[in-house]
Amino acid sequence: MAVTLELDTSRSGRASWQRPGGKASQQRHEIVRPLRIGPIELRTNLILAPMSGVTDSAFRRLVLDMSGPAVGMVVSEFVAAEGLTRGNRQALEMLRYTERERPISIQIFGAEPHRMALAARMVEDAGADVVDINCGCPAPKVVRRGGGAELMRQPERLRAVLRAVRRAVSIPVTVKIRAGWDESERNALEIGKLVEEEGAAMLAVHGRTRVQMYRGAADWELVRALHERLSIPVVGSGDLATAADVVARLRADMAAGAMIGRAAMRNPWIFAQAVALASGRAVTEPALEDRLRALVTFRRYLRETLPDRALIGRLRGMACRLSKGLPGSAALREEIGRAPTVEAIEETFAEFLDRLEDARKEPSWA
Ligand SMILES: Cc1cc2nc3c(=O)[nH]c(=O)nc-3n(C[C@H](O)[C@H](O)[C@H](O)COP(=O)(O)O)c2cc1C
Repeated sequence: MAVTLELDTSRSGRASWQRPGGKASQQRHEIVRPLRIGPIELRTNLILAPMSGVTDSAFRRLVLDMSGPAVGMVVSEFVAAEGLTRGNRQALEMLRYTERERPISIQIFGAEPHRMALAARMVEDAGADVVDINCGCPAPKVVRRGGGAELMRQPERLRAVLRAVRRAVSIPVTVKIRAGWDESERNALEIGKLVEEEGAAMLAVHGRTRVQMYRGAADWELVRALHERLSIPVVGSGDLATAADVVARLRADMAAGAMIGRAAMRNPWIFAQAVALASGRAVTEPALEDRLRALVTFRRYLRETLPDRALIGRLRGMACRLSKGLPGSAALREEIGRAPTVEAIEETFAEFLDRLEDARKEPSWA
């Protein structure tokens, strides 16, 4: 019989487990709850993080299909303000979404106030619910031109960008930052204050510096400090690998909301799992047929906009991630790598799941 465990957390935000009726259940309160961003109320405070090359409309819809209303908001890949305002086709494509993806935030990056304002206006004209300003991208080609994390080193430029963008649009403007540039320039607290002063409706914080890129651990004490000091909602990002991590951080009141990135790439059910866990229900792992359904759904959405030669890499990556942790997944990854067509990838994946299903049904004599 499955025993439902409940989550207990200390101020550290680390999780431990208790049986129902213990201290944890007495402490339980609504940790997954609606989140207000200016005039918009999100269904939940769980947000799909912006991820370049990942969070296009196909992926956002996959996450919404698998996690349902547990997803409070989705954020697009970052879009270059330069590209958008110069009519670059690829950038313009990134403004596309379906009605089902609402509320949707579209993230832009750049450093020139006038151009950022024009880009934000285009985001508003495309009907997005929120426009987000990227102040965290560590990529050399972005920071060299003054955008992404470089904006955190140029507070007055950031102020000018925010003023111009706020003047240009009536939808809420939000900002996503890192901890700072490097260990000697950890200025997230000052930047957070500036962002609040300039009227942003929400701040998302990835607690690593630009120089760290994705190394080391995300600093959630920094997220907590911002959450405690600012009056606008502060959403934490970084290393939320499981539903238990999400619930632990929120239960420890480290942030007003949680932004989930890489974990959603291998587990698009994570939002629903976090809601279940927060309300004291057991987290169920997706069944084998759910994994196949996710792959087929993703392929269907990708095919709406991409030719097979362009989507095959995305599908291979998804098949590998969806099988991670299952017995035999390393061998499957090699097979998937050799599968020459979209159909072959799906067949290989389905056969792998069938074999697992059969193995599970076989009686064990041990
Ligand atoms: C492949 C990839 C692409 C990303 N692209 C963006 C982006 O376009 N804009 C942004 O603000 N952050 C971007 N990020 C950072 C994530 O939004 C998030 O802050 C970071 O991955 C930490 O969260 P996680 O541990 O849940 O993944 C990206 C991260 C990854 C892994």
